[in-house]
Amino acid sequence: MNIMPPGINTRPNESYRKMEDGTQEEYLLLKELAVPFKAKTADRILAYLPALQHSFPGMAVDRYVHCLQTATQAFKAGESEEYVVAALLHDIGDLLAPDNHGAVAADMIKPYVSAETHWMIVYHNLFQGYFFFHHYGKDRNMRDRFKGHPCYQMTVDFCGKYDQTAFDPNMDTMPLSAFEPMVRRVFAREPWGPQTKNEQFPASY
Ligand SMILES: [Fe+2]
Ligand SMILES: [Fe+2]
Repeated sequence: MNIMPPGINTRPNESYRKMEDGTQEEYLLLKELAVPFKAKTADRILAYLPALQHSFPGMAVDRYVHCLQTATQAFKAGESEEYVVAALLHDIGDLLAPDNHGAVAADMIKPYVSAETHWMIVYHNLFQGYFFFHHYGKDRNMRDRFKGHPCYQMTVDFCGKYDQTAFDPNMDTMPLSAFEPMVRRVFAREPWGPQTKNEQFPASY
């Protein structure tokens, strides 16, 4: 998996060895260099996603297909573009943070989506537990502690309709290429822009 083009770490003008010694000129240059780098975030995410084929074993479909199926179902149900992208990425943290994967995906999308979508992805793994925690002797109703929260029902619905149902080898699954333009549009939004502002429900957890 090549997610970093060669030469990306070229530093033409940097001279400082401690951040506190950097000049304003150097910091302005770094800011300029960050623009094309950040513009490739969607490319890096799209290149990384197929690595989920090597995530948790033992299910009828691998995590990559599971993510495609979650997004496919959300798309076909007419959910918003940021919701579909969130569905596509919701398990992207499985390889690097298997016990905290919801928070990883949620923080990746946080600057580009609504506070509600962010919250839904943070807590999706706990809500998903409704479908299997009891088989491990755990409380399947852990999600109940969030009853009354503005995002409770949307997270119940995400897990019930799209996530827990996305393990079907026979599902007509949309390819990653179908979602690429959506991922690019969401990650092209102004980071921390108006989409993240909600006076009633600030994006924090
Ligand atoms: Fe998950
Ligand atoms: Fe999932």
